[in-house]
Amino acid sequence: MHPITIDNLENENFLNLINQYDPLQLIAIVDDNTAPFLETIHQITDLNIDAIQLPAGEQFKNINSLAGIWKDLTDNHFRRDGLIINLGGGVISDIGGFAAASYKRGIDFINIPTTLLGMVDAAIGGKTGIDFFDFKNQIGVIKQPKGVFCDVNFLKTLPKEELLSGFAEVVKHGLVNDKKYFEYCTSTPIENLDWNKVVKGSIAIKSNIVKADPDEKGIRKFLNFGHTIGHAIESHYLEIGNPILHGFAVAKGMIVESKLSVEAGLLSEDEFIQIENTLTKLFPKVSVKENDIPSIIQKMKNDKKNHTDAINFTFLQSIGKAVYNQTASEESIAKALFIC
Ligand SMILES: NC(=O)c1ccc[n+]([C@@H]2O[C@H](COP(=O)([O-])OP(=O)(O)OC[C@H]3O[C@@H](n4cnc5c(N)ncnc54)[C@H](O)[C@@H]3O)[C@@H](O)[C@H]2O)c1
Ligand SMILES: [Zn+2]
Repeated sequence: MHPITIDNLENENFLNLINQYDPLQLIAIVDDNTAPFLETIHQITDLNIDAIQLPAGEQFKNINSLAGIWKDLTDNHFRRDGLIINLGGGVISDIGGFAAASYKRGIDFINIPTTLLGMVDAAIGGKTGIDFFDFKNQIGVIKQPKGVFCDVNFLKTLPKEELLSGFAEVVKHGLVNDKKYFEYCTSTPIENLDWNKVVKGSIAIKSNIVKADPDEKGIRKFLNFGHTIGHAIESHYLEIGNPILHGFAVAKGMIVESKLSVEAGLLSEDEFIQIENTLTKLFPKVSVKENDIPSIIQKMKNDKKNHTDAINFTFLQSIGKAVYNQTASEESIAKALFIC
């Protein structure tokens, strides 16, 4: 996989990497909220790096924004030996990574995540892409960045609910891989957490899994826990014009998929209750109306994780131990969605 640095950006690794490129062939992709952070990069590098600025938000992670990036790169005669710097949250690393992977058949890029979700998840592992109509991350490729630089100082300006949204992935890492980490992260009030420790812990879990299975043929599927249901709920809310944060949909997905893990005879009822109580206390409630369930299940059937007609899940055997390639009947999914 790619190198990951968790440190102040002033760290020499960043400068060393940047210095390998022609300063005129560096371009940052930012959104309206992360554009001001370019100043930090200017101070560190002494370089006045040009930026392609997108409006902030998931609704702009689409083909039009991507075409806009391709157009700007082309208009700037951006060369194949240049470097794209994705400075922002998961939207920016996803679309910027895909733009880099596709422009002139692929150029180098690095990610400087500025959200918690970006640091612990989106910016690492090399998945890039865009949404297409109502389908999340429908189009994209896996392409590894040259490096990822996580500076937790960026989290200071992040709105609380965005921090919480990213925290769902942190909780997921504990649930699928490390009970002690789950307990540390969920037993300390969020405002007292040591973010360097949290980001380091989550990155260690994610990167070990990705290293062992870069193409998602096996254990990388652990990271999909909560996401079969979570993505479908997120797409549904987007479609009805009431978007919800990724992490909040995933938190709901983790509760429902834990319930399905109990139904499948894998997870104990006691651990399910522990998970449900923990997640309910941490995250805002996402309710699913009975009438919306068929449309949500339809979205799961379109999920790219399915290899057959059956809906593919990652379930839990216990806190800290996941199992992939599981399935459940539509009837039990509907029931779990309704009662959780
Ligand atoms: N590629 C992957 O492996 C992967 C994994 C998980 C999620 N994702 C994707 O990531 C996206 C969500 O990422 P996200 O939650 O980071 O969303 P985001 O990029 O939209 O950022 C959230 C909001 O915070 C703002 N922001 C970013 N950094 C800030 C800062 N430091 N201070 C203040 N505001 C800041 C952004 O402008 C935006 O308004 C989704 O599109 C999801 O599909 C990808
Ligand atoms: Zn996620």
